[in-house]
Amino acid sequence: VILLFPLILLFTPSLSLSLPTSKSSVFVPSTPIPGMKPGTSGLRKKTKQWMSENYLSNFIQSLLDTANESSNPPHEILVAGDGRYYNAVAIQQIIKICVGNKIPNVLVPRTGIMSTPAVSSLIRSRDDCGGGIVLTASHNPGGVDEDFGIKYNEGRGQPADESFTDEVYERTKVIQGFWKEEGEDIDLNAEAGTKTVLGSTTVTIIDPFKTYISTLRTSFDFPLLSSFISDPRVSILFDGMHGAGGPFASKILGDILGVEGLMRCESKEDFGGIHPDPNLSYASDLVERMGLLPDGTANPDFTSEFTLGAANDGDGDRNMICGKGIFVTPSDSLAIIADRCECIPQFKGGLKGVARSMPSSGAVDVVAERKGVECFVTPTGWKFFGNLMDSKEAFGKKSYSPFLCGEESFGTGSDHIREKDGLWAVLSWISILADANKGNEEGSLVQVKDIVEEHWKKYGRHFYCRYDYEGCDSGAADTLMDGLRGLVGGGGKAAADVGGGGEIVFESVEEFEYTDPVDGSFSGKQGMVLNFKMKSTGDKARAVFRLSGTGSSGATVRLYLEQYDGKNFQGSAPEKLKLLGEEAIRISKLQELTGREQPTVIT
Ligand code: G6P
Ligand code: ZN
Repeated sequence: VILLFPLILLFTPSLSLSLPTSKSSVFVPSTPIPGMKPGTSGLRKKTKQWMSENYLSNFIQSLLDTANESSNPPHEILVAGDGRYYNAVAIQQIIKICVGNKIPNVLVPRTGIMSTPAVSSLIRSRDDCGGGIVLTASHNPGGVDEDFGIKYNEGRGQPADESFTDEVYERTKVIQGFWKEEGEDIDLNAEAGTKTVLGSTTVTIIDPFKTYISTLRTSFDFPLLSSFISDPRVSILFDGMHGAGGPFASKILGDILGVEGLMRCESKEDFGGIHPDPNLSYASDLVERMGLLPDGTANPDFTSEFTLGAANDGDGDRNMICGKGIFVTPSDSLAIIADRCECIPQFKGGLKGVARSMPSSGAVDVVAERKGVECFVTPTGWKFFGNLMDSKEAFGKKSYSPFLCGEESFGTGSDHIREKDGLWAVLSWISILADANKGNEEGSLVQVKDIVEEHWKKYGRHFYCRYDYEGCDSGAADTLMDGLRGLVGGGGKAAADVGGGGEIVFESVEEFEYTDPVDGSFSGKQGMVLNFKMKSTGDKARAVFRLSGTGSSGATVRLYLEQYDGKNFQGSAPEKLKLLGEEAIRISKLQELTGREQPTVIT
């Protein structure tokens, strides 16, 4: 074996190995830095804060200590980011801390950039990979004056749960220093397969695309999709918003499937100066080119040339779907995919479970009920879907696979990975369109609009929209939530009597809490739900208040409005929901408490 080893190295062409270059690890003393509590999806702060002395190192050491002392200490860790400003510098620093902590194997994608779904799929594909350090602030803007973030995904590819992130936070409060090994930077542009040995760590450059592409190939019928895309009547417009999903879209939608309408698909450190969040406000170019007005209704003066329009966010896990003159709300998108999922090979064996976050509309619930499929309502945050997906493998319980889930915050996905997946959602919609047009060789195409309207006819429409009040005073936001909490039980009726409601009758207030059916863990304070009923039809409506867990400063109050209509499907959602919004604002005293006359964004 000893004699053969150098020979193997000589004759393995794609693999180069540099010999140990680094000195031994040193312990760098440090002191705790306040405020490192991870939110819904990792720790997000201003980039400059991350760049300040020891900030990144303190957090990474606390994270590695937590991982190393878990029941499953990682022998191999993936380090990858969404390409925003500071990505490459942070990756080099994290590698040095991993080496200092003697993690045996570190994987880094060529260029350092990988979309979040690709990260999840890579971790899942490797038995030894215990987790991933993911450098992303998702859809928050990037740049030296904007946001940077880090989250940790565990061995099944899922975002770390609250007990893990709480533990990281506790460690940041008592940290005394971090282990680091100084050495040369890794060449992030080296060929995939290049290995560098630093101390007792081997750092390997990997291909960012390969595993993810093969995962998607098992979910979808690629030849069918490309033949649909090559139909001259079909044209697709995809907006990568200069995020990490862009290069993946170029490869998969562009090179493999033949989509020509690719915009903003090169990844940029500042996302080209935009807010990389795919919604009606921030993806306004795409919205306009799809023949839509900013409120999501059709522009009467402009007909789009595109059959399908879609956008992804900064790290490629969110998606927005539009058709010619129609915007599909994420909650409707989930319901429609659930209804038609048999046209996607992944669901050929029949769907076993669906889930949505509580603030998402109940559109999917209705489909699940009709299909006889189990439906779960979870708190906001993709991590809550993970246990349901792993119910069998990790917990030995009933299996909900194949499983479909989504959130109103432009997240859709399934159990092919453990993150939401922007491109997966786009491929699902191309599959639905291809199926709806099967055998339709020459007539006019069945459009997204036809599919959505047919869905509403079958199930009724859940009118839906969200008001965001960004940058509120945290104290005022807490007072607002506490005030609503005070209305639970008897106080609810009193609030109803004050305003009188008219057509909208206020019924009750409740606080959403969740006990995980798989592992029994409890999550409290997940949002205040105000229930209403429409006087003339008896249809239900609700308003949900929740504080965002992903901001980097101040508080964002989210108000989610939903009204079911079983008969009348036409019209704009913001218009239809205006009265309900007014009632919710009145009852919550939002204006008095936050001083806000108008939401910052309506999506
Ligand atoms: C991230 C998570 C989502 C979650 C969203 C909520 O995007 O990945 O799962 O829905 O944050 O954000 P919020 O700002 O409403 O807490
Ligand atoms: Zn994201």
